[in-house]
Amino acid sequence: MKIDPWGSSTYQDYARLRDEFGIEEFSDDLWKDLPNPHKLLRRGVVFGHRGFQTIKKYITEKKPWAILTGLMPSGKMHLGHKMVIDQVIYYQSVGADINIAVADIESFATRNYNLKETMEYALNEYIPSYIALGLKPEKCRIYFQSKNQDVKDLAYILGKKINWSQMQATYGFNASCNMAHVFSPLVQTGDILHVQLEKYGGNRPTLVPVGVDQDPHIRLSRDIAQAHRLYNVIETKDKKIGVFIKVDEDVSKLLDNAEKTLKTLKFNKLKRITDYKAIYIEDANKDDIQIIDETLAKTETGFGGYGFFQPSATFHRFITGLTGDKMSSSKPESAIFLTDSTEEARKKIINSKTGGAVTLAEQKKFGGKPDECVVYELFLYHLIENDQDLQEIYESCKNGEKMCGQCKKYAADLMGKLLKDIQEKRKTAADKIKQYLE
Ligand code: TRP
Ligand code: SF4
Repeated sequence: MKIDPWGSSTYQDYARLRDEFGIEEFSDDLWKDLPNPHKLLRRGVVFGHRGFQTIKKYITEKKPWAILTGLMPSGKMHLGHKMVIDQVIYYQSVGADINIAVADIESFATRNYNLKETMEYALNEYIPSYIALGLKPEKCRIYFQSKNQDVKDLAYILGKKINWSQMQATYGFNASCNMAHVFSPLVQTGDILHVQLEKYGGNRPTLVPVGVDQDPHIRLSRDIAQAHRLYNVIETKDKKIGVFIKVDEDVSKLLDNAEKTLKTLKFNKLKRITDYKAIYIEDANKDDIQIIDETLAKTETGFGGYGFFQPSATFHRFITGLTGDKMSSSKPESAIFLTDSTEEARKKIINSKTGGAVTLAEQKKFGGKPDECVVYELFLYHLIENDQDLQEIYESCKNGEKMCGQCKKYAADLMGKLLKDIQEKRKTAADKIKQYLE
């Protein structure tokens, strides 16, 4: 099985996918203690993660960390796209530095858009909606891949540690792929890692909230981040904590630096073995690894390294299209666009595929299936804030009290209100954009 970021597959069995790719479960303990956890986190829509523990720790300890997200400027923005930005807005409210990449290079390389068209999609379609949804533009960075030299430089330079067979194995590229497409995952790695350059805030945890189709890019950027570290801090087979130098240049300087750094962290029982390029820390244990690693990472730029923290990621389920398959811009009846009129949205909802029974009598008797219903998904992902209200809909559907006709009307009413609100706010958002673009 392969995850193809540019493919059209839908995923049914998220738990299996998660386990197969070594994604960790997004368990309750990860969000329970966050301030006002977002509904997508609370309700299992975000179902997996890599390295979110670090993000949780930094939120709790109020230490600086970053969000990096990318938008693909092609087609119109629909409810599926809204999910990412809803999370970003939440993380902005709990103190993250927000960075948004307009993926114009990727859009150019993998779809048939030129850079001018992608610019127009970004400026007229996506960014005004982001602001309308609540993103505070004065407290975030929005940039175009094609205009950011640091991102492009990193993409090129970091590519040195990845070879063609790794790219083929990860993405299934073949001989007829154009090179701009082949290169675009490295540009995305450039997006994800450049926020840790000095100029953009320095080495710190970075969270990339994505749909699970993006996991290959996440793995690539985590591997590349790790491959560029100068130090490796691990527990050895005989349960000792060791700092190892991964490069062959400046070994003694790096060992000196590690010794000094460890002493400032109050580790004093150090055993340096220059031949192994190692320092063993006899008064440290496993729980100290993270702080040692992070502190050393921050010194690496002084030795020509990057000191990248491995980027973290969360993975969310895709919203089902109203037709029952994928929600896609290329199939307008499957998607509700943020610029749809109230009436257009109502029509799509009324015609949608529910989890209702074939006849009213049967539904009264056996109940509906909210777990297989796209209308229920609209409530869950977008329309109902209060968990108890949602629970009530769930139960009254299951026990046959609620009928689909009335339920769809309610969803259409709420959706109409939401869209009106967004569209109202979009009008003033458009003026704000230019002044905040990088
Ligand atoms: N590849 C992403 C998509 O298809 C867009 C993207 C570009 C992105 N750079 C990113 C997403 C960095 C997350 C992080 O939608
Ligand atoms: Fe879906 Fe509502 Fe029908 Fe239940 S009653 S199946 S939630 S539309």
